[in-house]
Amino acid sequence: MTNSRPSSVLVVDDDADLRQTVSESLEAAGFAVSQARDAADASDRLEAFAYDGLVVDLCLPDANGMGVLEGALDRYPEIKAVVMTGFGGVTEAVKAIKRGAIDFLIKPFQLTQLARVLRTAIDQRRLQLESADLRAQLSGRFSFDNIVGRDPAMQRLFSTLEQIAPMHSTVLLHGETGTGKELVARTIHHHSSRTAHRFVAFNAAAIPEGLIEAELFGHVKGAFTGAVATRVGRFELAHRGTLFIDEVAMMPMPLQAKLLRALQEREVERVGESKPMKVDIRVIAATNVDLRRLVAEGRFREDLYYRLNVIPITLPPLRARRGDIPLLAQRMIQKACGENGLTPKALTQDALRTLMAYDWPGNVRQLENAVEHAVAMSLQAAEITTDALPEEVRQPAAAEVQHAIPIPEDGLDFSTVISQIERDLIQRCLEKTGGNKRQAARLLNLSRTTFLDKLQRLRLAEAAA
Ligand SMILES: Nc1ncnc2c1ncn2[C@@H]1O[C@H](COP(=O)(O)OP(=O)(O)OP(=O)(O)O)[C@@H](O)[C@H]1O
Ligand SMILES: [Mg+2]
Repeated sequence: MTNSRPSSVLVVDDDADLRQTVSESLEAAGFAVSQARDAADASDRLEAFAYDGLVVDLCLPDANGMGVLEGALDRYPEIKAVVMTGFGGVTEAVKAIKRGAIDFLIKPFQLTQLARVLRTAIDQRRLQLESADLRAQLSGRFSFDNIVGRDPAMQRLFSTLEQIAPMHSTVLLHGETGTGKELVARTIHHHSSRTAHRFVAFNAAAIPEGLIEAELFGHVKGAFTGAVATRVGRFELAHRGTLFIDEVAMMPMPLQAKLLRALQEREVERVGESKPMKVDIRVIAATNVDLRRLVAEGRFREDLYYRLNVIPITLPPLRARRGDIPLLAQRMIQKACGENGLTPKALTQDALRTLMAYDWPGNVRQLENAVEHAVAMSLQAAEITTDALPEEVRQPAAAEVQHAIPIPEDGLDFSTVISQIERDLIQRCLEKTGGNKRQAARLLNLSRTTFLDKLQRLRLAEAAA
């Protein structure tokens, strides 16, 4: 198959000669190759980049290659992995295949065989993706309204939404911040018979506790100090439509009781008036914390939990469906470019792989912001490159370290802080290697003497302190 983007492969082996030979032969076969000399190095690289293929020696100095394989497959279920092993390792190699590797090679092996195996598997995957893309474009199956996703979990979500949207039942959405809870709630409303009426959103965390009741149920003039006019509550506003109760876990206990009553009776009373009104509403609640845990801790009413948890829907975090990132990014670029009157541009392969490798604690919302940032940084460029991505995405570890050190008003002592960082890195590497100094030095890319020297200086400083 001809394509302009070379497929990327990570080669992991502690034997530098073999690693080099394997890499050169793969490069000659048209792959873009990165190398890692041990498990720690490999997992760092896999955290930063979504490779198409992985070639890993099962016997590594610092850990079993099986761990590298499993970590890679967990993170990128589509990665095509080949394991290498010596004569004694056939049983392990078979295990690797069971875990999801596509092939194993017993050393010494023919280099052309490796390139062939990888090429076939990666091309097949690309063809599948391309034809799936084509089918999706024809049928629009990889989105449900504005919700985008090709991951099996998202496909299941789409069919659930199709089934439950027309129903009257209460829905409880659970998902981390930025996973699309509000988007899903609005989509349910739009696919229901209530769509001609209002979708009313209410965020329990955004309103001062004392005002929640009046906000939800409304109040009459003079009901309390400050109630200068009669006010219609959210329940009434949502009559015949949908009421979206966001961050329901933040609802204070006394109000949970009132909310429960309103949901059970489908009846509300404005504050300051004892005239119950019937409301016809569908309720969708959302939470980013586990309500069951709050129930167990006595912080959320169990009866209210059951009343809300009629149709539970969990939205997966973005890092659990990295395969959706290319599609999402593409749509977001189109949107961001369209809004700014630009012709949509493509992400370079490198930039896309960097997006796919990142953990996205802020999920789809954070990806949206990153893409918008990248589009703004690439106004003059033909393509969007890695450089245009926000720093926390490009170098997650570096950004973390940077932000971890606060700079006090009266400044700090540079050398003390740097030695603290050195000590921390050295200690963590020693812990990771079970106290093995040679391996710890290697993890830090330091010569053994430099490492021992630093270790000794830190210990002297500690003794003196
Ligand atoms: N699957 C998706 N496809 C396309 N866009 C999405 C998807 N999921 C979320 N978004 C977009 O990401 C942004 C955040 O989504 P939303 O506000 O629904 O998240 P949320 O779960 O309510 O977050 P929070 O808990 O922080 O309120 C929105 O702009 C939304 O349109
Ligand atoms: Mg929200």
